[in-house]
Amino acid sequence: MSPSHTTELSGHAEKLIRSRRATRAFRPDPVPEETLRAVFALAGAAPSNSNAQPWRVEVASGARKDRLADAIVAAHAEQRTTVDFPYHDDMYSPEQQDRRAEFGGELYGALGIGLDDHTARAAYDAESLRFYGAPHVAFLFATGDGAARLAADVGIYTQTLLLALTAYGVDSCPQGLLSFYADTVRDELGMNEGKLLVGISFGYADKDAPVNHITTGRAALDATTTFHP
Ligand SMILES: Cc1cc2nc3c(=O)[nH]c(=O)nc-3n(C[C@H](O)[C@H](O)[C@H](O)COP(=O)(O)O)c2cc1C
Repeated sequence: MSPSHTTELSGHAEKLIRSRRATRAFRPDPVPEETLRAVFALAGAAPSNSNAQPWRVEVASGARKDRLADAIVAAHAEQRTTVDFPYHDDMYSPEQQDRRAEFGGELYGALGIGLDDHTARAAYDAESLRFYGAPHVAFLFATGDGAARLAADVGIYTQTLLLALTAYGVDSCPQGLLSFYADTVRDELGMNEGKLLVGISFGYADKDAPVNHITTGRAALDATTTFHP
């Protein structure tokens, strides 16, 4: 795009979108309540099919968040998993598997964990169920029948929320792993509806943690996008 097509807003958008990154070590300091309300009000501006807004958002902090972490860790130890959105490793294409492997190399490399050290990797993943030490976690549920089109709207909400957090200087990590404990999360939150898509841990990054310095690349534009003249 030529410079004449850039605007003040595109400059802000470039900065906002590119400065969001997954954070996997947090300081314990909570986000002020006023900021929390502003962030989640902004995230609610996400678009959805027919403006149905099929999301339910549960934000946990403090003792409630700690109880949730304990319950999820216990469910994990007892292999009590429930998924609302089925997951299979073979849902990924070979090309996608390559990207995942490259990312795994970056992540576990930064942690000093060898790629074949399955015990250390499993221990790290189990510990991540404590929301990477974040002071807050948001669980995003698809409501209605929670089918694929509604879940896609919740995905759009997810990115809007991640960008809203970034705009307010709050760091985050979307954690699909948390969705494997859907019944445990619902029980702890006293909920009996909604399909759990993802949990988002958030707060302020521990900037000294090496894991927060990994970089992730992206496929080249032409590999994913075709412009038909
Ligand atoms: C839906 C979704 C689920 C994710 N699940 C996890 C997870 O369970 N654990 C984790 O550490 N990161 C998780 N991530 C973060 C991705 O690994 C990360 O977004 C990706 O590697 C790109 O890196 P970046 O976010 O720093 O740009 C998830 C991201 C998304 C969008």
